[in-house]
Amino acid sequence: MNPHVIAILGGTGHEGSGLGLRWAKAGHSIIIGSRAAQKAQAAAAELNGKLGRDAVRGLDNAAAAQAAEILVLTVPYGAHAATIESVKDAAQGKIFVDVTVPLVPPRVSRVQMPAAGSASQEAQNLLGPAVKVVTAFQNIGAEHLKDAGQPIDCDVLVCGDDKEAKAAVIQLAAEAGMRAWDAGPLANAVIPEGLTSVLISLNLKYKVKASGLRITGIDA
Ligand SMILES: NC(=O)c1ccc[n+]([C@@H]2O[C@H](COP(=O)([O-])OP(=O)(O)OC[C@H]3O[C@@H](n4cnc5c(N)ncnc54)[C@H](OP(=O)(O)O)[C@@H]3O)[C@@H](O)[C@H]2O)c1
Repeated sequence: MNPHVIAILGGTGHEGSGLGLRWAKAGHSIIIGSRAAQKAQAAAAELNGKLGRDAVRGLDNAAAAQAAEILVLTVPYGAHAATIESVKDAAQGKIFVDVTVPLVPPRVSRVQMPAAGSASQEAQNLLGPAVKVVTAFQNIGAEHLKDAGQPIDCDVLVCGDDKEAKAAVIQLAAEAGMRAWDAGPLANAVIPEGLTSVLISLNLKYKVKASGLRITGIDA
C-alpha cells in the first residue's frame, strides 16, 4: 500500500466523511476540506475519535487542496462549480476525483445531466487539461460507507482519460472495501452519474436506504 495525502473537499458531509474514514483506516493521511476551517477541524476530530488515532486534519478547501496530492470533491451539485474555482490553482497536475452527482432537486430520481454531458466533464472543462479528472463513487450511498469495517455491496465505475489516475482510484476503492472497474473515458461519466437517479428510484420503489449495482462476467 502506497500512502497518499488525500484532501476531501466538502468532506464535512455524508459521503466525504465516510470515504475519509475508510481511507484513514487503510493508512492514508486525510485532510477534510470545508468552506470553514473550524468546521473541517471539528469533522476531523470526530473521525479521529472513531479511528482512535490522529490520521485526519481539517483545513479550508483551498488550503486542503494545496496540501494534498489527490483531491476528492464531495459537494452538492449546486456548489460544484464554485468549489472547483476555489481550488483550481492548487489542483494543477493532480488527480481530481469528482464524486458529485448532478442532481436537480426536487426531482432527484430523474436523470437530468448538464449541457457538458456530466458534472465530471464540467470539472475537467473548469480545471483545464493538466488536471487528471476521474469520476468515481457516485453509486455508493453514504449509508454504506459509515461502518468502515464492512465491505460494500456495490461496485464502483471509474471513468477518466488518464489510465494511471484511474488505476490509483481503483486501488483507493479497493482499500476502502469496494470493487472498482475501469469504465472507460471521462465521456462515459454520464452513466455512473445518471445511474444514481436510477438507484434513488429503486430505493423509493423498494423502500431501502441504499441499493447498489454489480458488474458480472469479469474474473476480478
Ligand atoms: N450522500 C450520498 O449517499 C451520496 C452518494 C453518492 C454520491 N453523492 C454525491 O456526493 C456529493 C456530496 O453528497 P453529500 O450527501 O455528502 O452532501 P452534503 O452532506 O449535503 O454536503 C457535503 C458538503 O458540501 C458542502 N456544501 C453544502 N452546500 C454547499 C454550498 N451551497 N456551497 C458550498 N459547499 C456546500 C458542505 O461543506 P462545508 O459546509 O463544510 O463547506 C457539506 O458538508 C453530492 O454531489 C452527492 O450527489 C452522495
